[in-house]
Amino acid sequence: QTVDQFMKMNEKEEELAKRLKLQLCRIIPGNLDDDPDVLDQLGIAAVEMFDELLPEGEFIVAVAGGSTMATMARHMTTNLSDNRKFTFVPSRGGLGEVMSIQANSVSDLMAQATGGENTALFAPDNLSAQALDSLKDEPTIRYTINMMKRANCLLYSIGNAKVMMERRRMSADEKERLNESEVVGEAFGCYFDEKGNITSRLSRFGLQMEDVEEIPYAIAIAGGELKAKAIKAYSHIAPDHTWLVTDEGAANSILKGD
Ligand code: F6P
Repeated sequence: QTVDQFMKMNEKEEELAKRLKLQLCRIIPGNLDDDPDVLDQLGIAAVEMFDELLPEGEFIVAVAGGSTMATMARHMTTNLSDNRKFTFVPSRGGLGEVMSIQANSVSDLMAQATGGENTALFAPDNLSAQALDSLKDEPTIRYTINMMKRANCLLYSIGNAKVMMERRRMSADEKERLNESEVVGEAFGCYFDEKGNITSRLSRFGLQMEDVEEIPYAIAIAGGELKAKAIKAYSHIAPDHTWLVTDEGAANSILKGD
């Protein structure tokens, strides 16, 4: 598929897509950091993009957590299922965040909104190696992990590293270790620096950054100037076929080269 077959980009979107080496970018007016209403616009645009990107057929959609993803879920409708059948699966277990924005909750919301299926992952994601070994052979957990590995679509967000460290209530030691490695962003529980080097991985059950390359349909949704550095850094590791929905707050900052 070539990008010309899809929605047209305006000049600034073209420039951003070129700068980040991504197949397609959509820029929503406003800056999420100054105006919380922009989150809904990001969610609406992400649903439009999802509808545009996916052909007819059956999809296993791996879904990350976070407030952006939860907002996207709220804007999904059964129309998306007119010619498609969805099974949503969380891209990982819980990582100590608020329940309503965990990947498990978001995938359940998406399944309910579209009339699709949901496969939950009932396990925390930051277990010791020993606990993980005994849990990963549990049939329900194994089933979900297999679904995750078979995903042919991925919906996820990118976070500002410092914001995510606070949100996950990390210890001072953990934060110090991450700050020493100069991380700027986070996605899938992987923290990365400005050049896109992954310096820390929190998630053991979940999808890893390397898995994204294999997933044919992938949309990242991230807005706000505070996320600009993270988005730019992530573009060094993002597969070229990634589609991005962002806002002017992040896009202008990236294009200015801040
Ligand atoms: O914790 C899940 C997650 O998707 C992170 O990987 C990402 O950094 C973050 O949420 C984004 O959260 P928000 O949409 O609330 O900014």
